[in-house]
Amino acid sequence: QGTMTVNEKGHLVIGGCDTVELAREFGTPLYVMDEEFIRQNCKAYYESFTGAYPNSEVIYASKAFLAIAMCNIIEEEGLGLDVVSGGELYTALKAKFPTGRIYFHGNNKSPEEIRMALEANIGRFVVDNTYEMDLLNSIAGEMNKKANILIRITPGIEAHTHEYIQTGQIDSKFGLVLSNGQAMEGIKKALGLENLILKGLHCHIGSQIFELQSYQHAAEVMMEYIQKVTAETGVEITELNLGGGFGIYYSAGDRPASIKTYATIVMETVQRKAREFNINVPKVIVEPGRSIVGAAGTTLYTIGSVKDIPGVRKYVAVDGGMADNPRPALYQARYEALVANKADQPKNDEVSIAGKCCESGDMLIWDLAVPEVEPGDILAVSCTGAYNYSMASNYNRLTKPAVVLVNRGNAELIVRRETYEDLVQNDIVPERFKKNKK
Ligand code: LLP
Repeated sequence: QGTMTVNEKGHLVIGGCDTVELAREFGTPLYVMDEEFIRQNCKAYYESFTGAYPNSEVIYASKAFLAIAMCNIIEEEGLGLDVVSGGELYTALKAKFPTGRIYFHGNNKSPEEIRMALEANIGRFVVDNTYEMDLLNSIAGEMNKKANILIRITPGIEAHTHEYIQTGQIDSKFGLVLSNGQAMEGIKKALGLENLILKGLHCHIGSQIFELQSYQHAAEVMMEYIQKVTAETGVEITELNLGGGFGIYYSAGDRPASIKTYATIVMETVQRKAREFNINVPKVIVEPGRSIVGAAGTTLYTIGSVKDIPGVRKYVAVDGGMADNPRPALYQARYEALVANKADQPKNDEVSIAGKCCESGDMLIWDLAVPEVEPGDILAVSCTGAYNYSMASNYNRLTKPAVVLVNRGNAELIVRRETYEDLVQNDIVPERFKKNKK
């Protein structure tokens, strides 16, 4: 998948662009996003869900990677958008994204964020807790609006993934617990609030999930619950959002299923359960983030210092690290990489890739097979499209890299590189410090 090749110079080419040229033109570190690849993933989702099962919708979880141009791509591909903050919503509004296709998530939406979303007439609020129900109901009342909501449920499913990105288990900050009656109480409360319109239920069991049985299980549990809610309240639940989390390939051992298989299992399970319980098939919504952009992104770095500790390890440092990719430090995430200007050379050396932040934990990759490297070489780390730019920080006052969109030999800047001036633009110097600085 995607459009990665090696050209006659032995350089890695993405989207028809020579990555060594990209590094020269735009500088490093640089996030390179393969537009064709993103669109292929969007199409795979659209065709496997909405195309094959018209009563379903795919919404892109923008937390994975968001920029205004990304909203434009998502809109063109016919997907909806999941936002979790005023900032993500603001970006979508700047892109003039169709607001009816926006879902607003989050376990602690502020009154300002709620107002902003109501003002924009977004499609759905995914309400996390009863505090939010009251808040949303009262703000909607003040604004003379009705809010269409889904209620987030914690279904008690433990998916096998890193504990920081597991979310479906009972002991979670998200959602109302299904098993102890908390969810049913919340649903009844929402039904009694005059400015809320209950459309459906939501659950999300975690991220980077490979086992499709976890999704099947979640669909079964939620369908059974929908039947129970209807039986107990007399209200039909017409929408079921099963969250995101579909896993992708990062490194050896990762074996994701196809999007098509995922869709088939989810949709068939929902339909089978609807028949079993003799209820209407709800509209099914899924919210993939990582599986749309993750593998479509590559980060280019310039190699600097090389430190060999004979018999121990060879450290090769790059001009970025945990500030542009915190995932190895945070989740022990593993990545693959290659030397972009030596992509055709035999890998006869083994090195460990260090970042440039002042922390021993800032290591991007351990024990990577590479050709003989030297300062100035370009390292390309693959599958960095999700949760890299979006989780980037200014730690050590590093400037955030630029993002470039490549497609058929064209490279377009979609996020410019931060400057030092950007770093200090919000700093305010109290007058008393200015006196002696003439
Ligand atoms: N829907 C909800 C409610 C979510 O919480 C998430 C991710 C998604 C959808 C999208 O999940 P995806 O398809 O991207 O797996 N920073 C972590 C991942 C955190 C995921 C948070 N929620 C990482 O870098 O692995």
